[in-house]
Amino acid sequence: MNLEEKIAGEFNHFLKIMNHKEEGKLDESLSENEKRHSISLMRVNASGEVAAQALYRGQAFFAKSKKVKKHLLKAGEEEFRHLKWCDKRLKELGGKKSLLDPFYYAGSFTLGSIAAFFGDEKSLGFIEETEKQVVKHLEGHLDEMSPSDKKSREILKKMIDEEEEHGKEAKDHGGEELPAVVKGLMKITAKSMTTLSRYI
Ligand SMILES: [Fe+2]
Ligand SMILES: [Fe+2]
Repeated sequence: MNLEEKIAGEFNHFLKIMNHKEEGKLDESLSENEKRHSISLMRVNASGEVAAQALYRGQAFFAKSKKVKKHLLKAGEEEFRHLKWCDKRLKELGGKKSLLDPFYYAGSFTLGSIAAFFGDEKSLGFIEETEKQVVKHLEGHLDEMSPSDKKSREILKKMIDEEEEHGKEAKDHGGEELPAVVKGLMKITAKSMTTLSRYI
């Protein structure tokens, strides 16, 4: 595949993520307040999954070794599965996706490309740290979400298991620990994104 074909492939993937729609029957079992709260949390998580796979795609695009590239694309596919779960649940709750998703995708793809620039080991270290932060974030959502919203909670738990696995896999593939300052910056970026997606 030449470079133009690769770029076209990435653009098609972006369109696939932005245009895919999930169906879901409206959930009438929750109160209006519970529903509103779950919608804001699941919208954040859907955006997180858009960002997650754009990160993986950006890192895979510039990965140095074939093995790492293959691993990153596989993990990215799993993030797409998470996105489908979140989107379906949002539909069932009567919520909408974030309007900022295209920007998150573009921004995260760029960030993934920058991480890849520092080499596969650092790039994998970046994943390990990202997934660690994602797990903490999802656990926070589990604490916050109404116990009545069993379906959303089930999704969060499954995602926590798989994100933990992604983190471990990145380490096993040779991920190197990142400097504390980079980890801090990552937290700030994630915090601003998750705050915005609650409302927009
Ligand atoms: Fe995920
Ligand atoms: Fe993940």
